[in-house]
Amino acid sequence: MSISSSIQHIMEEFSAGIARVRSSADIDSLRVRFLGRKGPIQRLMQELKALPSEERPLAGKEINELKKSVQNALDLLNEKLQTEETTHRLEKEFLDVTLPGRRRFCGGKHVVMQTLDRVIDIFVGMGFSVQYGPDIESDYYNFGGLNFTEDHPARDMQDTFYIDQEHLLRTHTSNTQVRVMESNQPPIRAIAPGKCFRNEDITARSHVFFHQVEGFYIDHDVSFADLLTTLDLFLKKLFSDDVKVRFRPSYFPFVEPGMEVDVHCYNCNGQGCRVCKHTGWLEILGAGMIHPEVLKNGGIDSEEFTGYAWGMGIERLVMLKHGINDIRYFTENNMQFLTQFT
Ligand code: PHE
Repeated sequence: MSISSSIQHIMEEFSAGIARVRSSADIDSLRVRFLGRKGPIQRLMQELKALPSEERPLAGKEINELKKSVQNALDLLNEKLQTEETTHRLEKEFLDVTLPGRRRFCGGKHVVMQTLDRVIDIFVGMGFSVQYGPDIESDYYNFGGLNFTEDHPARDMQDTFYIDQEHLLRTHTSNTQVRVMESNQPPIRAIAPGKCFRNEDITARSHVFFHQVEGFYIDHDVSFADLLTTLDLFLKKLFSDDVKVRFRPSYFPFVEPGMEVDVHCYNCNGQGCRVCKHTGWLEILGAGMIHPEVLKNGGIDSEEFTGYAWGMGIERLVMLKHGINDIRYFTENNMQFLTQFT
């Protein structure tokens, strides 16, 4: 085959190759195939040596031209493909930084815990320290030490979750009273927040556990008036200065005298409704002057010292503060309810 027809043949093959190019990788392989050391153009260069010397210059020129046009064609196409590929990539990877981000779900503190924190804050501001007692308690600290007689109805299995003969889930935070007295001498000014458990019948208002904040102050000459003013100030801080409060005599074996404190029902504004059992008032706490027997059990001289104590239900406070009319909302994990308070 003459050099010219070889050139022609190579050109045809190259054109066919070019027509099939889809990517810059295809170009690279074409370049190796035609311009590489083992490619057809290089082979022609070898054949050139065998030609008679007078034919060599012309043939050499033709081969060089072939080489150049192959190179040019590859370079041109390469440039075109690279731009196309870049444009394509830019389009594909386009990122709209002005799009609003996806919202992440973010949890929040339960409204009962929020209120508990607020209650603790107020009393800490008044100089009370915070103490904690155990949820699983002995009969003594929950009942016996608090002057409950052996046959007191509150010990009845109906109300108390017993673990064994001696141990139970505390029914109130008053279990902290004798514990704190045992390891401290007056003046004692403490609050004790925590969970309480009662085995109540299933009714619309039933709840197996709830939260209380116990509080007590033991010192020389602590009076009932101190108790009233402390609670009054607390309720004004938690609700508002015009909160309507009622103190009512009541009985607890560990205080004497004892009382209960009611707040005007938010739901009916005192008119009487289902929430307040048609009384116009909601009971939020029990309180009184600590019984001398209880002081004695705590190792405190009841001739020298007096003290007051209260135990308030946090769920009730939350219901009053936010106008919630069913205690079951607190444990149903209904997001529509819960997210109102985050
Ligand atoms: N422990 C009582 C209850 O749970 C409340 C209370 C506490 C009453 C302290 C008087 C003094 O109902």
